[in-house]
Amino acid sequence: MGTIDDIRRYWDEDAATYDDARQHRPTEPAVMAAWTAAVEAALPPPPTAVLDCGAGTGFLSLIAARLGHQVTALDVSPEMLGRLRARAAAEGLHVHTVVGLAAEPPGRDFGAIIERHLLWTLPDPAGALSSWREAAPAGRLVLVESIWGAVDPIEALRSAAGRILGRLHRMPPEHHAEYSDELRRSLPLGHGTHPGTLVSLAVDAGWRTPRLHRLRDVEWAERMALPLAERLVGTAPRFLVVAD
Ligand SMILES: C[S@@+](CC[C@H](N)C(=O)[O-])C[C@H]1O[C@@H](n2cnc3c(N)ncnc32)[C@H](O)[C@@H]1O
Repeated sequence: MGTIDDIRRYWDEDAATYDDARQHRPTEPAVMAAWTAAVEAALPPPPTAVLDCGAGTGFLSLIAARLGHQVTALDVSPEMLGRLRARAAAEGLHVHTVVGLAAEPPGRDFGAIIERHLLWTLPDPAGALSSWREAAPAGRLVLVESIWGAVDPIEALRSAAGRILGRLHRMPPEHHAEYSDELRRSLPLGHGTHPGTLVSLAVDAGWRTPRLHRLRDVEWAERMALPLAERLVGTAPRFLVVAD
């Protein structure tokens, strides 16, 4: 079984519960409003042809479609995209879905390429960023990421404390299982996404004028929606890397 088959199978299985985790699909109106403001500010004016890579159940795709963009959602997992289509239909939104690899964008005339939490699970993130450059030669890159894993020891401690509290409060887990150590080791960003690493990868792939934005409004809204003890522990630092 190859890496991509393992990854597709994992996400097809995760699709059933992915949206139960508040980190994946927040239900609080203020948190969604903060995300919408962040996506609106990062994208060119609508209507732009936006490609959401590793779109999953459609968190970014649906926000972009609500803002009036023409969205193509690309994902290796048919099950994740099935959830996206159901949500889009429920809201009367049109999102074009494509089952395929992030490194093989369906077209070359996108005005923006966006992703959230995809890069860590790509076998070749540098190659994907280069293929996105070719798919949006005059477009915008928006990477939506957070600090996690081994990239920052302080954040690792904070998130371990948050996980313990989450279990105490019986919050749904983020995923149905963990990637195997072997699979994780085969992924260049499998142990975390440092902003500096992502900026360098984007520049090396031909993206210009990188800008780094901390998503403080999203974090603030997320934190206010938490039970008191978890509020004190806080949430993962979220950030955007935007480039042209
Ligand atoms: C952590 S989820 C993020 C989903 C969504 N972007 C979000 O923010 O909720 C990662 C997604 O990337 C997809 N994925 C993983 N490897 C991929 C690849 N090589 N090409 C396309 N999609 C991939 C998975 O199927 C999954 O839907």
